[in-house]
Amino acid sequence: LRTILMGPPGAGKGTQAPKIRDEFCVCHLATGDMLREQVQQKTPLGIEAKKIMDAGGLVSDDIMVGMIQDQLNNNKECKNGRICGGSVNTVVARFVLDGFPRTVPQAQKLDGMLEKRGEKLDSVVQLLIDDNLLISRITGRLIHAPSGRTYHKEFSPPKKPGVDDVTGEPLIQRSDDNVETLRKRLASFHAQTGPVAEYYKTKGLWHGIDAAQSPKIVWDNLRAIFVAKK
Ligand code: AP5
Ligand code: ZN
Repeated sequence: LRTILMGPPGAGKGTQAPKIRDEFCVCHLATGDMLREQVQQKTPLGIEAKKIMDAGGLVSDDIMVGMIQDQLNNNKECKNGRICGGSVNTVVARFVLDGFPRTVPQAQKLDGMLEKRGEKLDSVVQLLIDDNLLISRITGRLIHAPSGRTYHKEFSPPKKPGVDDVTGEPLIQRSDDNVETLRKRLASFHAQTGPVAEYYKTKGLWHGIDAAQSPKIVWDNLRAIFVAKK
């Protein structure tokens, strides 16, 4: 499975992508998580990226394409396969991309990158949801920064308030998760990422699913698309 999960901020990419990773034994590459790791480590890229992310803008195409290329080549789970059900899934570079590509140039460069490897995307799924439903999702979100695990104060609360279910470590709110930044993130989604959906529609790869449903129903619908593709 080589797939892309796209959708506006709060649509549920980070909620659903780990389920795809586990069920279909692929590697999960989330560019937002990668950038947040750089921010946390205070690397030069992280310091620059934080300003852009907090302003709701997009980090440059060259940087993002470089990150994905590096991950496809060097990330152990993408390169050697993941261990699922006791055995190694050795077919290389099976992946779900979350948050990439976000612009048409990123999508074109991804195509070129895959072509060189003799690989092709088999689907692109967009989580469709009205902008006004995203405010409460974004303002109530809590994350476990080291793993990217996602919770919601109301819709998907952790077992113990404020701490990660798996590690017991504290949960935090993302610095871009406020109403003002959300508006800018939504504007850049519609202006820059909208055309990416059109790009994949003309290639016949695009699927859309209703992301306003419960996480369980969204997952059932997503799963059905990938099972049909298998
Ligand atoms: P990124 O981290 O990718 O943020 P985003 O696209 O804004 O998406 P989110 O992570 O906010 O939403 P999500 O769809 O993952 O929602 P989630 O599942 O968590 O990128 C951050 C920034 O990095 C960008 O703004 C940009 O600056 C930069 N960047 C990243 N990639 C880039 C690229 N390729 N090029 C340039 N710049 C890039 O769900 C949200 C909440 O809702 C959670 O609390 C969850 O529990 C809850 N929830 C989920 N599903 C449901 C449901 N069905 N019902 C009820 N609640 C739900
Ligand atoms: Zn996310």
